[in-house]
Amino acid sequence: MEKKKYKILFVCLGNICRSPAANGIMEDMIKERGLADRFEIDSAGTYGGHSGSLPDNRMRAHAAKRGYKLTHHSRQVHPSDFEEFDLIVAMDDRNFANLKALAPDLESEAKICRMMDYSTTGTYDHVPDPYYSGADGFELVLDLLEDSCRNMLDSLNDK
Ligand code: 4NP
Repeated sequence: MEKKKYKILFVCLGNICRSPAANGIMEDMIKERGLADRFEIDSAGTYGGHSGSLPDNRMRAHAAKRGYKLTHHSRQVHPSDFEEFDLIVAMDDRNFANLKALAPDLESEAKICRMMDYSTTGTYDHVPDPYYSGADGFELVLDLLEDSCRNMLDSLNDK
């Protein structure tokens, strides 16, 4: 029988910058390592105002320069996500607190972690919101996500 896939949900505010970038980066890393049969990735936002939209043009352009094609369409976090996913990864403290408040029970709450729990650089405790930033903000998001996705995949793959 096929082993059940380990499902990871990346969560930010609008699901048009940080979490769809994490989604795309992680999917590429999983494919590169030949692990597509073991992991499934999705992303969502705590705010639903951008639902249905592709990632922000700036995020897509910066990601494309590094070879990532971001095709996720924004959606809001849904209560069923807490049952569906094994790991729910918040980009910052606000997303973390919102997810904790939405979690229907203790088992669901235990699935929530922070993206920067997996950082190897120790320079940031959250992934800064790039929405009102310049180009540097988007490059920083990609730097932080590449590092923490790599480390997350290493640690989950060891289990
Ligand atoms: P994200 O960025 O949470 O990384 O997708 C933002 C997207 C939209 C808004 C803020 C942050 N907004 O205010 O609409």
